[in-house]
Amino acid sequence: MNIVIIGAAGGIGSALCNHFSENHNLFMGSRDEANLSKLKDSIVSNNKYDISTVDVTNFDSIETFMSAAHNYLGSINYIINCSGSLLLKPAHITSENDLDQIFKTNVYSCFGIMKSSYKFLRTNGGGIILFSSAASKVGLKNHEAIASAKGAISSFVVSAASTYASNNIRINAIAPGLVDTPLTKRITNNKASLDYSKKMHALDRIGNPENFIPLLDSLVDERSDWITGQTFFIDGGLSNIK
Ligand SMILES: NC(=O)c1ccc[n+]([C@@H]2O[C@H](COP(=O)([O-])OP(=O)(O)OC[C@H]3O[C@@H](n4cnc5c(N)ncnc54)[C@H](OP(=O)(O)O)[C@@H]3O)[C@@H](O)[C@H]2O)c1
Repeated sequence: MNIVIIGAAGGIGSALCNHFSENHNLFMGSRDEANLSKLKDSIVSNNKYDISTVDVTNFDSIETFMSAAHNYLGSINYIINCSGSLLLKPAHITSENDLDQIFKTNVYSCFGIMKSSYKFLRTNGGGIILFSSAASKVGLKNHEAIASAKGAISSFVVSAASTYASNNIRINAIAPGLVDTPLTKRITNNKASLDYSKKMHALDRIGNPENFIPLLDSLVDERSDWITGQTFFIDGGLSNIK
């Protein structure tokens, strides 16, 4: 398979890149060139793999990146967007700028990726996997902005899955609970916050990036080509178990 991974240098993204490089060709992107280069250097594989910077808040940047990915790989089977951000603030002190940043990174990016990849997927089909959040389903304090944005991703998934089904483009999302990655350092580095967070998950522990590999492996298996329009919760029970 030829797989494009965005947000590749992040916690979940880099775990996926290291894993998928064993059996697939990869084109990997995120904003920071130094982190991307470090990721590329960490990969040992006989398959093809390369990197390019991309800013998912900018449609032109996504367009350039997707074209580079297609040129390099020759064709694209899967796009996995692991880019994202987090904002923990109650609604009454959330600024317009906060919302612009959260929605551009998490929601506009889905439209940009769809817009730039359609021409590469429309003939032979393929898959797009986005990242939502357990916070889109369960009420968590101070998550108004990120819960709204991640909820928008799950809503995007059902509509886009319908729109592009006739092109055999399958669109799904993963919704994590709290995962130990650079994104959540402020929570996980504070013992009291970490202990409190663990208790919110029925399994009494937070997740790690490797927890996403089995489902992602299964979704990029060509026998999974009857799965579309779904959000899969990988969240230690956070979203639906008390
Ligand atoms: N970790 C959690 O607890 C958790 C919970 C729920 C949902 N999620 C979601 O899961 C996904 C993966 O999260 P993670 O924990 O692996 O986060 P992470 O470690 O912070 O990685 C996120 C990646 O996104 C990239 N990124 C951020 N803004 C970008 C932009 N404008 N353009 C391009 N790349 C950008 C970052 O790299 P650069 O800064 O170098 O670009 C980084 O590589 C995200 O969508 C996140 O919202 C995570």
